[in-house]
Amino acid sequence: MSTRGRFIVLEGLDGAGTTTQGALLAARLIEHGLPVDLTKEPTDGTIGRIARAFTDGDLHLEAETVALTFAADRIEHTVEIRALLDAGTWVVSDRYVASSLAYQTSQGLPFEWVRTLNSRAMEPDATVFVDTSVDACVARLAARGEFNTGPFDQAAALEKARELYVTAFASDVPLGRLVEVDGDASREAVADAIWDALAPLR
Ligand code: TYD
Repeated sequence: MSTRGRFIVLEGLDGAGTTTQGALLAARLIEHGLPVDLTKEPTDGTIGRIARAFTDGDLHLEAETVALTFAADRIEHTVEIRALLDAGTWVVSDRYVASSLAYQTSQGLPFEWVRTLNSRAMEPDATVFVDTSVDACVARLAARGEFNTGPFDQAAALEKARELYVTAFASDVPLGRLVEVDGDASREAVADAIWDALAPLR
C-alpha cells in the first residue's frame, strides 16, 4: 500500500502569485520524486464554471448563492482530491476553504455561516498564504488586463479580503500547518520560502 499523499493549499489575493507558485511547487515536488497533481478552485467542473462566471463579472449572483456554489464545487473537488491522496499522490491546490472564508465573508456574509458550509471539506496538511501587498496585486492585475473586471478585482475588495484572510488564519478553522510567505519578494525567493517551510511534510 502506498503512503498517503500530502494536501497543500496555496492562498492569496487575486494577483498574489498563487498560480505561479503552485506550478513551481508542483515542479519541485516532482523533481524530488513525488507524484503530484496540480489543481485549482473554482474547478473546471459544472459547478466551478458557474462560480467562475461570477468572479469574471459575467454573471450576477447573490452573495449567499456564490458561497453555496463555491462550497458545492469544493465538495465535488474534495472527492477527487481524497482519491488522489489515498493513491499516494500529493495534491497542490490553488485555493480551497480559506478563499471562501476571506472572499465570501468580504461580501458581508457571517463568518460562522461560511465556515459551516465548508465544514465537510478536508483539512489540508498545509495552507500557504502568499501575502502580496494590495499595491503589487493591483499592478499585476492591471498588467494582465484583469483589474476592475470582476467583483473582487478591485483595490477596496482586495484590502477587505486580505483582512479576512488574516481573520481566517487566526480562527480555529482546521487549515493544517499555516505558512505565510512574503509575496512581494522575487518569484524564486517566494518559491524557496515555501519549499523550506514545507520541509517537515516531505
Ligand atoms: P483566481 O484564483 O485568480 O483564478 P483566475 O486567475 O483563473 O481568475 O480567481 C479566482 C477568484 O475566485 C478569485 O477572485 C477568488 C474567488 N474565489 C472566491 O471568491 N471564493 C472561493 O472559495 C474561491 C476558491 C475563489
